[in-house]
Amino acid sequence: MSGIFITIEGPDGAGKSTVIKKLAQKISENSSVQVLLTREPGGIDISEAIRDIILSPKNIAMDERTEALLYAAARRQHLVQKVEPALKEGKLVLCDRFVDSSLAYQGAGREIGMEAIWSINQFAIEETMPELTLYLDIDAKIGLERINQGRKFEELDRLDQEGLVFHERVRAAYLELLLKYPERIQKVDASKSIETVIDACYNLIKDKFPNLFN
Ligand code: TYD
Repeated sequence: MSGIFITIEGPDGAGKSTVIKKLAQKISENSSVQVLLTREPGGIDISEAIRDIILSPKNIAMDERTEALLYAAARRQHLVQKVEPALKEGKLVLCDRFVDSSLAYQGAGREIGMEAIWSINQFAIEETMPELTLYLDIDAKIGLERINQGRKFEELDRLDQEGLVFHERVRAAYLELLLKYPERIQKVDASKSIETVIDACYNLIKDKFPNLFN
């Protein structure tokens, strides 16, 4: 595949969604590469439908392994239907969350174990892994404060409703992954201003893929 696959990761409240949109815009302004911005779980109809099932606060009965399988299923469909075709066309795919989210949230947050989560995800993704992962790091408490701001508990999705201990496990897992894959995963301090975070992400992409830019 001739395109470039980049993922953005981080705990809830790290500001990923805002950063990724502006980052895509900045890349497009400075490069002739076509950028495809997408997200997990979701990105296409089948996976968005699975997303609704996973995140609905109504589904309190959902078993944690069911949750892990649904994330992997949504990932598979999104990958074959959207990401891989775009990579074949030579595009730069910028994806909000990928397999590291499952390792951190289901593996560590839900305490299923990263190895078990890796094995179901390997089935789902086969050989396709991102060349670069930008990890937006934020203290779990600050991240939670950000997502709770101006929102009532009932308005949060099922994962956002989890408590501090869950989110601390998620962040610790991301830091572990960072140590395990130092070539692929790059850390960005997400406690800084949005502009600083976007610039840091942009520079990491530029350093890794200098030929992309004018
Ligand atoms: P996301 O859309 O990034 O959250 P938000 O827009 O609320 O910031 O992701 C939704 C939630 O799903 C988020 O809490 C993280 C969680 N998640 C997992 O637990 N495992 C996964 O594999 C993925 C992709 C997301």
